[in-house]
Amino acid sequence: MSSDLLQPRALRNAFGNFGTGVALIGVHDAHAAAVGLTINSFASVSLEPALLSWCLAKDSQLFDAITRADRFSVNILAADQTELSNRMAMPGDHRFDASEWEASASGGIFVNGALAKFDCRLHQTVEAGDHVVFLGAIEEAWACEQSRAPLMYFRGDYRQLLGDD
Ligand SMILES: Cc1cc2nc3c(=O)[nH]c(=O)nc-3n(C[C@H](O)[C@H](O)[C@H](O)COP(=O)(O)O)c2cc1C
Repeated sequence: MSSDLLQPRALRNAFGNFGTGVALIGVHDAHAAAVGLTINSFASVSLEPALLSWCLAKDSQLFDAITRADRFSVNILAADQTELSNRMAMPGDHRFDASEWEASASGGIFVNGALAKFDCRLHQTVEAGDHVVFLGAIEEAWACEQSRAPLMYFRGDYRQLLGDD
């Protein structure tokens, strides 16, 4: 196997051939502001106990805010949420508007219009190269009952999967 295939661009292309959903991580920063980060590294991990994972780039502007927090939420986005996804994927202001979320039982950030929402206590972090893997212990989970179309990401672009809406 040529090592050229391990160059960042080639690796990115290979990783990008794995179609994923898109999610928003929500945390309260040091000023108690609700902030969000777009991710596609979400994975379901365990049912018993209930665990999920996702990965955070160490160069993210939100790195300190997220690593300092002992809780976070994960919100699985719907097909009509590309604008929010783009906004929370841009360096700069990651703050949510107050109208964009409601509090979970623990006060976590449950994004309006998301297809599924998980409120997590930080279970474990794992150093992994230029990322940190976050494992969350899920304390509250909510799923949209209708079959609405998810926001998908494949080969560097948003894609749509047809749902019932
Ligand atoms: C579809 C999509 C998926 C992304 N997935 C991740 C991810 O899993 N982990 C991560 O740290 N950044 C991910 N990003 C990048 C962050 O959203 C982006 O780097 C960040 O918001 C840029 O601003 P920051 O430097 O303020 O973090 C993703 C971006 C997009 C558009």
